[in-house]
Amino acid sequence: MPQTPDRLTFKLIERLVIAQSELMHLSYRATSAWGNLAGGVLAATLPEDELTALTLRLYARHHSTQTVGSGLREWESEWYDRDLPPAPSRVLVCAAGGGREVRRLLQRGYVVDAFEPSDVAFRELRQLSGEDCRVSDRSYREWVAAVEAGDSPRYDAVIFGWGSLSHVMTAASRAALWRAADSVCDGPILASFYLHEPHRVGRAQRLGQRIGGLLARARGRPARDHHVNFVYAVGFSEPLTVEEVESCARSIDRRASWYLRRTWPHVTLVRRSAQ
Ligand SMILES: C[S@@+](CC[C@H](N)C(=O)[O-])C[C@H]1O[C@@H](n2cnc3c(N)ncnc32)[C@H](O)[C@@H]1O
Repeated sequence: MPQTPDRLTFKLIERLVIAQSELMHLSYRATSAWGNLAGGVLAATLPEDELTALTLRLYARHHSTQTVGSGLREWESEWYDRDLPPAPSRVLVCAAGGGREVRRLLQRGYVVDAFEPSDVAFRELRQLSGEDCRVSDRSYREWVAAVEAGDSPRYDAVIFGWGSLSHVMTAASRAALWRAADSVCDGPILASFYLHEPHRVGRAQRLGQRIGGLLARARGRPARDHHVNFVYAVGFSEPLTVEEVESCARSIDRRASWYLRRTWPHVTLVRRSAQ
């Protein structure tokens, strides 16, 4: 069959589109391998406070209400409906970002306290402060210190906001968070986080961890041997395991209700004595 100009033009476009898609695929793989390698090195080399500081800087750099959105996700809405005590109870929202969850809870009639340490997001959150809403720029670590010093009101529920528990980089610090929440709240503790998926640790990350291990020893620090995620816009996170959360729940005498079928894993811990 003779090649018409129309057919030839299409062939040319087809080649260009395929070449471009290959190029995009390669650049995506290179960016992702670089992120995994750098993340592996940094996560193994840096101590918890430095990883947190970098994470908060990256959140500040990339925070945007447009990407986070302004409403509750469907899974959050259902979760809150099911597990929060009715309004107007007093709820603490930890790692509240620009106030996405806080805004909706206020609209539902709750009294809300919230904290968020990343400065750009905190400026947005501060705009919600008022009679029914008190905000602070504390980090998780500073909040635990305040609770342990007896400097906290009591709450009817505590929420560890969307994905945030995973940014707390050691199991010991996360255990301290559950204890702090339990000590200021007889009601439910709701927590959202990333869950550990072993198959996701790739070659680049393993290499990064090995290099990081050497650097950590050179700095005279123990190397972290856990799985760590690094994403350019949201920094470092350590995915949790079901076993870790169950063990923390038992240590504060609470029962865990799991929600694992939806996109974002989350859990509610309820006092055994409340059942
Ligand atoms: C995925 S964002 C969610 C923000 C908000 N809860 C929302 O859903 O819109 C996670 C938040 O955790 C905060 N964060 C990260 N590390 C933290 C830490 N160590 N203490 C308190 N907040 C932290 C970040 O600044 C960020 O705002």
